[in-house]
Amino acid sequence: SEVMLQQTQVATVIPYFERFMQRFPDARALADAPVDEVLHLWTGLGYYARARNLQRAAQRVRDAHGGVFPEDFESVAGLPGIGRSTAGAILALSRDQCHPILDGNVRRVLARLFAVKGRTGERDFESRLWQLSTQLTPPVRVAQYTQAVMDLGATLCTRRNPRCGECPFEARCAARAAGTPHDYPAPKKPLQRTQRAVWMLLLRRGDGSVRLVQRAPAGIWGGLWSPPEFATREELLASPLAAAAAPRDATPVPHAFTHFDLLIHPVWVEQAPPGALADEAGVLWYNAARPAQVGLPAPIVQLLQDPP
Ligand code: ADE
Repeated sequence: SEVMLQQTQVATVIPYFERFMQRFPDARALADAPVDEVLHLWTGLGYYARARNLQRAAQRVRDAHGGVFPEDFESVAGLPGIGRSTAGAILALSRDQCHPILDGNVRRVLARLFAVKGRTGERDFESRLWQLSTQLTPPVRVAQYTQAVMDLGATLCTRRNPRCGECPFEARCAARAAGTPHDYPAPKKPLQRTQRAVWMLLLRRGDGSVRLVQRAPAGIWGGLWSPPEFATREELLASPLAAAAAPRDATPVPHAFTHFDLLIHPVWVEQAPPGALADEAGVLWYNAARPAQVGLPAPIVQLLQDPP
C-alpha cells in the first residue's frame, strides 16, 4: 500500500490494493508472477516503474530474506523503489519501529507548523524538515503518530484549501499565525510543460483484435503493451502494416503526464496484410472482449474500448 500511495491518493488506491492483494497475498506470490500480470493489475495507477520495482523488491525478499519481509531499516530502505521515507513508513506502521518519515503530506504539515522556508528538493529545506520529523516522531505509538501526521496532511492541512479552523494545531502553527499557510512549501519552479503528439496504428483483424507491441522496459509506459507509434501520420501510412485497407482517423485522445501533454492520434486500419498475421515475438493481438492479463496504458484501454 505504501508503494501504491507514493504518488496516488487513498481513494484511488483502495480497489487496486484489494485486487492486488487478492492475487498476490505475499512476497513469494508477487515474486513468482509474470511481470505482465503485475502490470495488468497496475493498469490505470500510473508510474509503472513502481510496479516493476515492487516485483523486484519481492524477488529480493524471496531470494535474500527467505521470503520473509525484513525488519531492519537498512534492508528495507535498500529494496528497489523504497526510499528513506517509504522504508520509515513501512516499519513504523507495520512494526511500530521509531523512524521518521517525510512524504509530501508530512513535508507540508511540518513546513507550515514551523514556518520553514524553502522548496521541496532543496537541500537545506529537506534536511531541516528531516530533523524536525526525527525530533517529533515519538518513541511509543509510532504507528498511530505516523498515520496521524500523514492523514493530517491528506485531510486538513491540504495544499490548496487548508482547513485551519478544524486543525488541532491551529494555535501552535507558525504559518497560521502569519496568515500564510499557502506559502509552505514554496511553490516549485513552474514546469516547462511540453506538448507532444504521436500517431498510433490500430491494426484490427476480422475477429476484432488489435495488434499491440510490448514497449521497452525503461521509459514511459515501460513494459506495457500499446499499438505501434509513429512521429507523424505520413510515417504511419508508410509502414508496411498500414498498407492494407483505407486508414480511418479517430478522435485524438489527450493524456497528461507529469512533465508533458501527449496527444494520441489513433489511425485505424482494418485487416492486416498477409504476413503481419503470423505470430511474432513481442506482438499481442489484443481483444477487448477477452482481454489478456497484461499491462496497458490507461488511454490505450480507453481507445480499445471505443473502436470506430
Ligand atoms: N500516503 C502514503 N502513505 C500513506 C498512508 N499510510 N496513509 C495515507 N496516505 C498515505
